[in-house]
Amino acid sequence: EYKWLYQFPLPIPQTKTVNRTIQHPVTGKAINYYEVEIRELKQQVYPDRGPATLVGYDGMSPGPTFQMQRGTEAVVRFINKSKNPNSVHLHGSYSRAPFDGWAEDVTKPGEYKDYYYPNGQNARTLWYHDHAVDITAVNAYYGQAGVYVLHDAEEAALNLPSGIYDVPLVLSAKQYNRDGSLFSPAGETTSLYGDVIHVNGQPWPYFKVEPRKYRLRFLDASISRTFQLYFESDRKAGEKQEFSVIASDAGLLSAPQKVKDLYISMAERYEVVVDFSKFKGENVTLRNARKIAADIDYLHTDKVMKFVVGKDSVEDKSNLPGALRTIPYPQDRTTIDHEFLFERKNGGWRINGVSFSDTANRVLAKPPRGRVETWKLINGGGGWSHPIHIHLVDFKVVSRKNGRNAVLPYEAAGLKDVVWLGPNEEVVVEANYAPWDGLYMFHCHNLIHEDHEMMAAFNVSFLAD
Ligand code: C2O
Ligand code: CU
Repeated sequence: EYKWLYQFPLPIPQTKTVNRTIQHPVTGKAINYYEVEIRELKQQVYPDRGPATLVGYDGMSPGPTFQMQRGTEAVVRFINKSKNPNSVHLHGSYSRAPFDGWAEDVTKPGEYKDYYYPNGQNARTLWYHDHAVDITAVNAYYGQAGVYVLHDAEEAALNLPSGIYDVPLVLSAKQYNRDGSLFSPAGETTSLYGDVIHVNGQPWPYFKVEPRKYRLRFLDASISRTFQLYFESDRKAGEKQEFSVIASDAGLLSAPQKVKDLYISMAERYEVVVDFSKFKGENVTLRNARKIAADIDYLHTDKVMKFVVGKDSVEDKSNLPGALRTIPYPQDRTTIDHEFLFERKNGGWRINGVSFSDTANRVLAKPPRGRVETWKLINGGGGWSHPIHIHLVDFKVVSRKNGRNAVLPYEAAGLKDVVWLGPNEEVVVEANYAPWDGLYMFHCHNLIHEDHEMMAAFNVSFLAD
C-alpha cells in the first residue's frame, strides 16, 4: 500500500532544447534538429522500497516536453540505448507514413532513426510514445511517453493562461512489486489497470498554485485505465466544482464547455481552464470516479492529485474567451463507408475478425486521398471498453448508440483522434482522409489489446482524376 498521498510535489518535465538548426535542402527554411536517447532511469516510487528501473526518452518518465511552433518543421533523432526494439509515434500529428511509427518499423537496440515532423497543423497537445509491434504496452508503461505541444498564432492571440500557468498533466496507472520494481504488463492478455495513480510520473502529487486561472493539459497515458475526473474543494467535500473544457485531441474547441466531470480514456487529451481564485487558501483535490466499464478499482484509484491554492490575491491578465475557434468539420455524409467490429475472439483481440499479424488481410480500408469517409465502430461486448485511435486524421464524433447514447458536448465541440467505445457501444466517426497517401494504422489504445492484435491498417491512395 502506498501511504504518501500528496506528500511529494508535481514534477514538471523539462522542455526539450534544440540541438541545432539545419536548412531544408529544398525550401531553404530552418528545421529544428533534436536528439533523444531512449535509456534507463531509476525512480524512487515507494519511499520504503527499492527504486524502480524504467526506460524513458532522455532517461525521463514522462519524457521531455517538446514546445513547437506551427510552421517550423522538426527532425528528431531517437537513439535506442535500451534493450528493446522501439518505434516512435507522434500521436496527433499528420506525419508522413515512414515517420508515423509503423509498428513493424522498429529501431533495434544500438541503432537510431530520424523522424521528420511537419508541425503544420493547428495548435494542439500531442504526445510521442512507443509503438513497437507486440511490446508497445511494455515500452510505454516503462516510460516511453512524453508531451509535444504545438503552438500557433491564432491560439496565442486568445491570451489563455500561458507559461508557468499552462501545465501538462500526464496521467498513468501502474503496479509495483514488493521490492519497488515495476510489475510488468508483459504477461497480461486483457488489461493492467494499476493501483498506483501517477501524474507526470509521481504518485498522487501535490501542486502549489496561485489563486488565478490555469490551463491544464490532461493526457491519459495509462495503458488500460479510463478516468472520470472531477475537482472537489476541502471546504465542500462531496461537491463537484465547475471548470471549462477548452480543447481536445485536435486542439481548441469552438467554445469553452462548462462541466463538472471529465471523461478521459487512454491517449485522449483534454485541456481545461480551472479558476483557482474561487479557492483562495484551500486545497482542491482532483478525484476519479469508480466503476468505469470493466476497469478494476483499488483503495486509492479514486484520487489523482491535490492543488494547494495560495491565500493572497494575484493579478491574472489571462483570458477565457467565450469563443475559441471555428472547427474545420468534415462535410457530413449520410452513408456508412465501413463498419468495424472490435471484439475478443478465440482468446485474442480482433477487428472484423482480423489480427494485425495477418498481413494478407489487415488492410481494412482504402480511402482515396481527400475523401470524407464515415466509419461505424462497434464494440463486440464482454464488458470491455476500447478507446479507438485512427492515425493521420482528425475526426468528428457523429453519434453514439447503446451506451452514452449522446456525444458528449466537449466531444462534439472539436475534432478528435481517439474515441472511447464503451461496452456494447456503436460510435460513428467521420474524417477527411488527407493530406497524404500512405499506409496507416488504427487500433484500440488499451495497449494490451493493441499488442494482442486489435490493430489494423488503412491505405490512403492517391487517385489521379
Ligand atoms: Cu497513440 Cu497508434 O497510437
Ligand atoms: Cu481495447
